[in-house]
Order: sequence, then C-alpha cells, then structure tokens
Amino acid sequence: MNILVLGSGGREHAIAWRLGKSKSVDKLWCAPGNAGTAGIATNIDIDPLDFRAVKESVKNYGIDLVVVGPEAPLAAGITDYLDGSCLVFGPNSDGAKIESSKLFSKRFMQRNGIPTAEFASFDNYEEARKFLQEASGSWVVKADGLAAGKGVFVTESKEDAIGALNAVMIEKRFGNSGNKVVIERRLTGQEASYIVITDGKNFVPMLPSQDHKPIYDNDKGPNTGGMGAYAPAGLVDKELEKRIQKEIIEKAISGFAREGIDYKGVLYAGLMIEDGNPYLLEFNCRFGDPETQPQMALFKGDLAKIMSDAAEGRLSDYNDIWLDKYAVCVVAASGGYPGSYEKGKLITGIKEAESAGAVVFHAGTVLRYGKIYTNGGRVLGVTAVADTLKEAKKSAYEAISKINFDRIYYRSDIADKALKNE
Ligand code: AMP
Ligand code: GLY
Repeated sequence: MNILVLGSGGREHAIAWRLGKSKSVDKLWCAPGNAGTAGIATNIDIDPLDFRAVKESVKNYGIDLVVVGPEAPLAAGITDYLDGSCLVFGPNSDGAKIESSKLFSKRFMQRNGIPTAEFASFDNYEEARKFLQEASGSWVVKADGLAAGKGVFVTESKEDAIGALNAVMIEKRFGNSGNKVVIERRLTGQEASYIVITDGKNFVPMLPSQDHKPIYDNDKGPNTGGMGAYAPAGLVDKELEKRIQKEIIEKAISGFAREGIDYKGVLYAGLMIEDGNPYLLEFNCRFGDPETQPQMALFKGDLAKIMSDAAEGRLSDYNDIWLDKYAVCVVAASGGYPGSYEKGKLITGIKEAESAGAVVFHAGTVLRYGKIYTNGGRVLGVTAVADTLKEAKKSAYEAISKINFDRIYYRSDIADKALKNE
C-alpha cells in the first residue's frame, strides 16, 4: 500500500513512523511533513488545504490511502473531495462538524444522551451577557468554531466570564469562529483522552492517555496544544473504560448512523472524570497531539491495515496490538509559546537523545542544508517507553536534557498526576 500522510506536527510524525513499520506499507509520503518525516518518508511541499494539489499527488504517486492528521482539511471536506480517487482515513465534512462546531457537537451529545456539562448557546452578545450576569457558579465560554485550541476560556468569576465573552464576540479574537458562543458549566476533576478508530459500526480503542494542556507545571498558565502526554492513563481503569465505551463512544457511533453521517476515521473523546464519572468535554475528529506520540510508541499492530479497514468500513478484531508497557512524551517548545516566539533556532542533541533510548518526534522543525532548525511553537516531542510509568518519565527527561536550542522550554512534571496516585 502507498500512503500519504497529511500534516506537519508531532502527531503526523508519530503516525508516519508507525506506518513505516507496518508490513502492508510499500511507500510513504508526507505533505508537507517536517524534518522528522523527511527521514522516514518523502515530503511533498503542498498545503493539505490545497485539495487540488493533494489529488494530483494521489494520482502522480499512485497513493492508495490518504491519512489526514489535522482537523482543518477534514472540516473543509478533503474526504468528500478525494472520494473515488483513493481511500481516505478521516471523516467527511458532515462528520468533522463534531469538532468544527461546538454547538453542533453539544446538541449531538444532548440528542444522543451522552453525559456532558449543562450548556446554553447564543448568537446574540447581549443575551449571552445577560445569561452570565444572572447565572450562579463557574462557567466556561467557548467560541463555536475552530480556534486552534485557543477559543475556550475556563473562568473563575462573572467578570472573567464576561471578559471572555467580549474577547470572542466583540473583539472577534477568533474571527467568525466567534459568531456564536457556547457557555457551559465548569466541571472539575482530571481530564483524559479516549480515542478510537471507527468504521462507522465497530471501533478499535487506542490506549487511554492524558494530555497536559497548560504551559506551566502544575497546570498553570494559558492552554497550549498540549505540552506532554502519557499512556496508558491509569485514571481510566478497565471499569471506567467500559463505561466510556458504552455511555459515550457507542452512543456517538450509533448517533452518527441514525443521523445519516457516514463517520469513518478517528473519534477522540476529551473527557473530564468528575467523582469517578465520565463527562464529555469535546469530540475531535482526528488523533490527539501529543497523545498520539505515546500511543504510537506503544502500538505494535499493523496500523496501515487498521486504517484502511476503517476507511473501507470493515474493521474486525485485532489482537495483541499493544506493548504491555508505558510511554511518556515531553514536548519541547519555543520560549514564548503559546504567545509569540522566534523561529529558525539551530537544534542540537537529537541523536544523543535517541541514543539515550527515546524516540524524538518532530513538530515545528525544518531541515536546511543538513541541519535542523525550529519552525514552530511546539518543536519536538521526546517519547520514551519503559516497564513502568516512573521509568518512562525518567527516561524521557534524561533524553530531552540532551536536546538544546535557544530558549528551549518544557514542563518538568509530565505524568506526575498519575505518579502521585501510585
Ligand atoms: P475543549 O476544546 O472544549 O476541550 O476545551 C479545552 C479545554 O478547556 C479542555 O481540555 C478543558 O481543560 C477545558 N474545559 C472545557 N470545557 C470545560 C468544562 N465544562 N469544565 C471545565 N473545563 C473545561
Ligand atoms: N492534545 C489535545 C488535542 O489534540 O486536541
């Protein structure tokens, strides 16, 4: 099978790395990819949103399967566009609405009896403001549309909440994504990511994982795309996993079918575990980043086969697809991220980190004349596998300490929430 992976993040490097080890893969391309994917696939310098160029590559290179990494091309309809040209792993634009519209998503959860926080939605600023003025308790204000993970404000007070509403609806910080808002009750507890591959009927679960969204240790500071993750997350034990499958995943899959949505690809449930009960914060229509890095580090099945089976609507049972170990991924970011930061810093120590036993997944990196430079906010994800979570953490931090670039920053507490409970 010839496969083209769309995207350029750590998630896409991890997917391509694992696909490269699949028996059923002949040749691998990435568009546009990064310095890491350049070492394991052929990078094609095209934008995944340039559908015509993607289709041309599919024809030129005899691609059998396109694996779509990020949400934007899915929301824009890449799967619909490529229909008939090749298999596509990722839902069509109807399915991708589960991520691209928070309001659609919340209403879908409500219609299908999926546990989620109580909410209200508004397209009128004054009405939204009045709601917040009169409401008691703590609220979360969310821009309806895609906002690169930044359109959600978890607020402490009425003033905070109204400030967030102003940012979304008056200042239009996320453009038209803020034409509508969802205001939902703030849940408390620990978050977990439960991600499955589905063909619209059956599903193959990934190992439960936990992301670390805020920039600083102890979950302080603004949210980022994710500063580190580990798997499996013990917070989701077998019993809780069964409940998540029954109360959330199965209800969603049957909901899609009932509503005429042909949903194939990844279904990602972002969960809050409050008092032992799973509540759905959001659905995403693609793999997590960085959750994919530890998940792929532990995956030992034939990923290409599972993805093409999902795209063809014929998932079956796949046994023995996980290592019985733990993986921790620590993300190295450019100083200043998630605010403004500089690019173009020389990165050293990647080989040393790999010799220390880690896999270094590239995100914002670029290759110039044989040297690797920073090219984004999240730069690398250093991922280590070990028999215990504690050893995996130690090994990931030992490896990342070998890496350097000007103003490198990473959290020092990835996986600590789980380790404290051990
Ligand atoms: P979302 O993009 O909707 O998942 O929101 C991004 C992040 O905001 C989540 O990962 C949570 O950390 C936080 N968040 C979203 N909704 C809530 C909620 N109802 N209660 C508490 N935190 C939330
Ligand atoms: N790590 C969070 C996400 O992929 O949405």
